[in-house]
Amino acid sequence: MTRAHLDGIHAYLSGTGYHVPERVVTNDELAGLMDTSDEWIQARTGIVTRRFAAEGEGVADLAIPAVEQALRAAALTVADIDLIIFATTTPDYSAPGSGCLIQERMGFGEIGALDIRVQCSGFVYGLSIADQYIRTGTYRHILLIGAEVQSTGMNLSDDGRDVSIIFGDGAGAVILSATKEDRGILSSHLHAQGKYAKDLWLELPSSRRNPRVSHEDLDAGRQWLKMNGKEVFRHAVVRFPQVIREALDANNLSIEDIALIVPHQANLRISQEVSRRLNAPEELLYSNIHKYGNTTAASIPIALAEAIAEGKIKPGDLVIFAAFGSGFTWASALVKW
Ligand code: UT7
Repeated sequence: MTRAHLDGIHAYLSGTGYHVPERVVTNDELAGLMDTSDEWIQARTGIVTRRFAAEGEGVADLAIPAVEQALRAAALTVADIDLIIFATTTPDYSAPGSGCLIQERMGFGEIGALDIRVQCSGFVYGLSIADQYIRTGTYRHILLIGAEVQSTGMNLSDDGRDVSIIFGDGAGAVILSATKEDRGILSSHLHAQGKYAKDLWLELPSSRRNPRVSHEDLDAGRQWLKMNGKEVFRHAVVRFPQVIREALDANNLSIEDIALIVPHQANLRISQEVSRRLNAPEELLYSNIHKYGNTTAASIPIALAEAIAEGKIKPGDLVIFAAFGSGFTWASALVKW
């Protein structure tokens, strides 16, 4: 756990931005590809539409407009940024990381570019990493991106219907900047439990195999994202409240002190159950899953940018980010705005 304090140098979020691909995919469109329905998807997930990237569009493409917005909001330029952290489960290439692509394409110079995985928890893990660099005085401004193109890794047929109705594509970005003021990241809390790795996983391409993907593998559908939805759900509704309480306890706060929780947008039913278990009103957990589905590492920064644009976060507010996903991994961060 990162300890809570805002004395000395620490990180605050100086700018946010997001970008989603143009193509809107409705539940009815999916129902034309697989045995599902708008009614089933809305009732089980709260999702009405999601966005799919255009052919050839990768996470670096989606991230660039989000980064431009975040830089503008922070009144900074690429020359001010000291490090890029790129959280994605769906990088443009297996190697090198998408952070390197952004660095080159946006003209960041020779600053470090670090890709992190951590799936749905990637953004919160990235926030924690950035905060450590800033607290040690190593860097002043860090760009953190969460971006995903899930649509190309999903089986859009009957066999994949339990997974592919949930996920969507998109990108969010924040700038973390050094400050000594009474605002910023109070604490962050990171967890993982690898024994559940195969309950939400994308097996191939795998370095355990040569070739990493064979024609037989493709025929068997081993290149698609697989999820044991019930097991993920069961753990998510326990881990979200647990890691939110951990953040509250670390800062001697109670749920009534919190202005907004921006959770990973996993499934509307998960958020509703989490608010029930926290004895909190449903509106305390920000939700935009109806528009974008579950965008993995991108969901929190997209939701944050929208919550700010809607005036839901004011200076001085206490905000919690919380995530749960593949790994299993889960994490939270408490931020004073
Ligand atoms: O980002 C974090 C990672 N992911 C999550 O947080 C997702 C967590 N899990 C979930 O959100 C839910 O488990 C799902 C939305 C994926 C599935 O909802 P569920 O209520 O757990 O459904 P289920 O898997 O228990 O399936 C219920 C029924 C089954 O039929 P039978 O066996 O009752 O006849 C499924 O075959 O619904 C069927 N089903 C579908 N029907 C229509 C499964 N997928 C679909 C579908 N459309 N797309």
